[in-house]
This record gives sequence, structure tokens and C-alpha cells, in this order.
Amino acid sequence: MKVLLLGGGGREHAIAWKLRQSPRLKTLWVAPGSEAMAPAAERVALDPLDPAAVAAFVRERKVDLVFVGPEAPLAAGSSDAARAAGALVFGPSQSAARLETSKAFAKEFMKASGVPTARALSCSSVAQAKDAVRAFGGRCAVKADGLAAGKGVVVCGAVAEAEAAVDALGATAAGRVLVVEERMEGPELTVMMLVDGRAYAVLPLSQDHKRLRDGDAGPNTGGMGALCPAPVDDALWKRVETEILDRTLAGLVKDGFDYRGALYVGVMLTPDGPRVLEYNARFGDPETQAVLPMLDADLLSLAAAAAAGALAPGRLPVKPGACVGVTLSSPGYPESPKPGAELDLSGADGLKDALIFHAGTKKSAAGWTAAGGRVLTVVGLGCDLPAARARAYDAVSRLKVPGLHYRRDIAAKVLGRAA
Ligand code: AMP
Ligand code: GLY
Repeated sequence: MKVLLLGGGGREHAIAWKLRQSPRLKTLWVAPGSEAMAPAAERVALDPLDPAAVAAFVRERKVDLVFVGPEAPLAAGSSDAARAAGALVFGPSQSAARLETSKAFAKEFMKASGVPTARALSCSSVAQAKDAVRAFGGRCAVKADGLAAGKGVVVCGAVAEAEAAVDALGATAAGRVLVVEERMEGPELTVMMLVDGRAYAVLPLSQDHKRLRDGDAGPNTGGMGALCPAPVDDALWKRVETEILDRTLAGLVKDGFDYRGALYVGVMLTPDGPRVLEYNARFGDPETQAVLPMLDADLLSLAAAAAAGALAPGRLPVKPGACVGVTLSSPGYPESPKPGAELDLSGADGLKDALIFHAGTKKSAAGWTAAGGRVLTVVGLGCDLPAARARAYDAVSRLKVPGLHYRRDIAAKVLGRAA
């Protein structure tokens, strides 16, 4: 198959690495891609946010499958354009991607579909949002409705703090509508699926680490590390499946969305049962970097089957062992990252049971330089989570990455319990 992958971050680096292992892959183009992806994929000068350009490339090169990595091309309409141009597309329509691109839409959808989630109010003015904050006694999450690159949510414990969050988020373009919801407690579980319009296949379960600093302190980020597989017992899984995943799929079908692509369900395991925190219309970053090495199946065949409406439903096979990814970020991330650190990654060259996925780097004659907020995700594999964790941190310790920040406690706790 001839495949066009859209995106260029750490998630797409891992997707390209996995697609490259497929016996069915003939050509892999990536736009915009990154220098680190060069061995796995051929970069093409194409703007993934330009639907007409994506459609033209699909026609000219006779692309069989377009695999959409991040949310921005979905929001721009590139998945619809590629589909209209005749390709199979792994990525939902612009309209279905509102599950991610509008938190107010997602809340309405969950309510209508009977999917358990936090009680919430959608507010179209700052004054209304402040009323909602007071109604929740300040214990709430304040969320910008629109896309905000992981910076659109503030979890609050008191009224003054939540009002300040309303003022701050309300002043952003993504925050013209604000969602204020009840604050929930519990460990978080990431469930990522491939969806083919009516059925879903579940990737190995994982857990993200959202906060910037050790001990879940500091601001929310896009994610500072992930582990896979997250151990979920049969009874809990049954609830996730029947109360959340089945109802989500039934809702998508009922509302007439022919949803074909990745669906990420962020779940909080509260004392009252599993509740949805958010949907994303793409795979997670950095979860993908820890999940794909554990997937014992051909990602290209799965994505093509999802895009063609021919997926075999169920839980996908997981390799034995475990995987832990540690994300390294530039100083100042997430508020105001200051990239530019020189990176010497040679210490990990050829290291067994370790993988380095690049999120934001540049290559020059002198070597690699940090070029983004999140820079690298270093992944360790092992026979179990503690071994994978030790491998990941061993690999990190071999890199010379002055000034980069990373958490020391990724996978120290697993779903809230000491590992
Ligand atoms: P979201 O983008 O909506 O998933 O929010 C980002 C992060 O904020 C989540 O992964 C949680 O860590 C936290 N969060 C969001 N909503 C809530 C909530 N209702 N209660 C507690 N924490 C939340
Ligand atoms: N790591 C969370 C996300 O990709 O949204």
C-alpha cells in the first residue's frame, strides 16, 4: 500500500516506525514529518492543514491510505478532502472530530448517549462561567471549548482560583465558550481504539502522566510520560466496555457519524465508577509511543480495515512484557517553552530494549537541537513495568540533554497504586 501520514510529532514518529514494520507497506510519505522520521518515511512538502493540497497529492500519487496523526488536519477538513479524492482515510470527518474540537459538543454527546461523565455547564460568557464556578463551590475543572494544545483545562479547588481560570481561559480564542464541570478524583486510564464506522478494536491500555512535575504537581501538559499495559481487571474492563465504549459507538452510529479513525477515551476511575474526562479524535501523545511497541498486530492492516469499514472488533493482542515512555521537554514548557538545547543522543545508539521518538528536534551539521516544547520521548521495554521503567531511565541517563526537564516518577505508580 502507498500511505500518506499527516503529522510530525513524537506520536507520528512512533506511527511511522510501526507502519514501517508492515509487510503490506510499499511507500510511506509523511507531511510535514521530521528529520528524525527520515529513515522510516519520505518527507513531502505538503501542508496537512490544506485540504485541497492533500486531495491533490492523493490523486497525483494514487495514495491508498491517508493516516491522520494529529487533530489539526481533522479540524481543517483534510480527512474529508482526502476521502473525497478517493483514498481510504484513517481519521474521522471534520464534523465527527468535534468530539475533540468542541468540549461543549462532546458533553452534549455524552449526555445524549448515556456515557458517564462529570456534571457540566457550558457557558457562553465569563459571568455565566463564574456563576457555574460558585455553584460547584470552586471544586471544578474549567475548560476552554476549543482546541488549546493541552493548555485549555485548569483543575481548581477554590472559588477564587476557578474565577481566575475563567478570566484567563475566557480571554483566549479557544475559550469563547467555557465548560465548567464538577471535579472528579481518581487515577486516569487511556483507552485508544480504532473505529470503522460501527465497530471498534481496542489497543493495549495505557496511562498518561498529565502534570509537569513529579508527584502530579505543576500545570497540566500534553503528557509527560506513559506506561503500557495499564492493568485493568475483568470486572472494571466490563464496565468500561459496556458503560462507556459501547454507548459511545452506539451514539456515533445513532447520530449518523460514519466515524472511521482513531478514538481516544480519557477515563477517570472514580470511586463511583469509570467516567469520561475527554474524547480525542486521534491517538494520544505520548501514549502512542508506549502502546505501539506493545501491539502484537499489523497497524497498517488495522488502519486500512478501519478506514474500509471492515475491522474485526475486540481487544487487540498485546506483546508480553511492558513499556514505559519518559518525555523530555524544553525549559518553560508548557507556558512558554524555550527550545534550542543541543542534544547528544549518541550514548543510547544501538541500546537494546530502548527507543527514542522525536517530538520536536532539528538536525544540523553539529547534531540534534531541541526545536519544540516537548522534545523527545524515550521508551524502555522490559519483562514488566518496573523493568521497563528502569530501562527507560537508564536510556535517558545516557543522553546528554542539558536543561531538558523530565519527570523522575513515570510509572512509579500504576493506576494510583505503588508499582
Ligand atoms: P481534558 O483535556 O478534558 O482531558 O482535561 C485534561 C486533564 O485535566 C485531564 O486528563 C485530567 O487530569 C484533568 N481533568 C479534566 N477534567 C477533570 C475533572 N472533571 N475532574 C478532575 N480532573 C479533570
Ligand atoms: N496525552 C494526552 C493526549 O494526547 O491528549
